[in-house]
Amino acid sequence: MSENITDNNKNIDNHDEHEYDGIRELNNPSPMWVIFLFFITIAFSGIYAVRYFGYPNNGMDQASEYKAAVDEQEAKMITTGGPGNKMSEPQMIAAGEKIFKEKGCVACHGANGGGNAVGPNLCDNFWINGCKPEQIVKVITEGRPEKGMNSFKSTLTKAQINQVTVFILKKLVGSNPANGKAAQGSECK
Ligand code: HEC
Repeated sequence: MSENITDNNKNIDNHDEHEYDGIRELNNPSPMWVIFLFFITIAFSGIYAVRYFGYPNNGMDQASEYKAAVDEQEAKMITTGGPGNKMSEPQMIAAGEKIFKEKGCVACHGANGGGNAVGPNLCDNFWINGCKPEQIVKVITEGRPEKGMNSFKSTLTKAQINQVTVFILKKLVGSNPANGKAAQGSECK
């Protein structure tokens, strides 16, 4: 018994010669299709890592996709006030107007939103940063520090930013005030 074990150990590197009780271990190479399948699984794991773990940071992992979906949904809800909003559109416009007049927007965009030496006209349909509600929300939230507009992230709540956005889109745009500043940016289509 112990002899055989020693024998086996001796032959361990020589695969063709494993023999025990007359049973010989063969060394048949795996069939080509098995090897092929094996490489496919390796390739698949690479694709999977990119697609589902979002490697390397390509925004395709679940957390990023979730965030993108939430952002998209919130963007759609801007003009209806956002989650939990109970205001009607006229109420939102009125609230937005109050914010526009009381939170300093008029200093740079004029009392009627027609723009002044500092800020652009918000009453025409030309936009520097885009006319989608979410683009307007972004400008107000983040500001355009390099262009002279401060961020309102800490001054206004999300709901208030939505309200002032609705005010701009539904009341200012198209109002054509006297002394409106010349159009800047590109026309919203
Ligand atoms: C200190 C001056 C200043 C204040 C205060 C200010 N803005 Fe602005 N705003 C600007 C300037 C300058 C721009 C142009 C930014 C650019 O060139 O991208 C701008 C751009 C914008 C735009 C985008 C216009 C476009 O064509 O893309 C919106 C919308 C806007 N402001 C809304 C507001 C609102 C609402 C408030 C108040 C909550 C406000 N701003 C307060 C200076 C100001």
